[in-house]
Amino acid sequence: MAQHTEAEHRALEKHVRGCKSVVEIGVAEGASAVALQTAMHPEGALYLVDPFHLSRVPMLNFLRRAARSVVSNTRGLRIVWIESFSHDAVRGWSQPIDFLLIDGDHREEAVEQDWRDWSPFVAAQGIVAFHDARLFAGGWTSLDYGPVRFVDRMFRNASCDWSILDEVDSLVVVRRKGRREC
Ligand SMILES: C[S@@+](CC[C@H](N)C(=O)[O-])C[C@H]1O[C@@H](n2cnc3c(N)ncnc32)[C@H](O)[C@@H]1O
Repeated sequence: MAQHTEAEHRALEKHVRGCKSVVEIGVAEGASAVALQTAMHPEGALYLVDPFHLSRVPMLNFLRRAARSVVSNTRGLRIVWIESFSHDAVRGWSQPIDFLLIDGDHREEAVEQDWRDWSPFVAAQGIVAFHDARLFAGGWTSLDYGPVRFVDRMFRNASCDWSILDEVDSLVVVRRKGRREC
């Protein structure tokens, strides 16, 4: 079940195109992971981070099953499932990231932690996409959404080495200009 709009799906495909090292934080049923795997570089690696802890029946975990059934190793792509919270998964992380989607824990402080933990690994000209991060006509977000608050605080009216590249429905896509931290 998609938790994003068709326009967001197309925007994810557009911005991930050609990327080789792709990380998604917050996979759920895998709908956005499908957009990423469809359009990223065919010889790349897609890292999917989600503890799948929200299942009402942990033994069956339909969320994890759904994700695993829609995301598959197609076109030679390497799919790496990391069944952990993002703040645990980052501890063993060491490689550069071309495209990062932050769509896990939506509390403002958790979005900020994902940003601080993972963005240092994003390469120059690399991309970070935040879901549920802006208001749009007929949409579900509000000004008190954690991702909305974080993105507004961090990227609007702030001078740093990241700039907003695109905004589609609730999706905000930022790109690293150089190597300096924000
Ligand atoms: C909004 S859903 C993701 C939707 C998905 N990206 C899509 O568009 O289809 C949020 C997911 O984040 C996961 N999650 C929550 N906290 C997390 C964390 N700290 N690290 C990784 N995943 C987390 C939840 O288990 C849930 O599956």
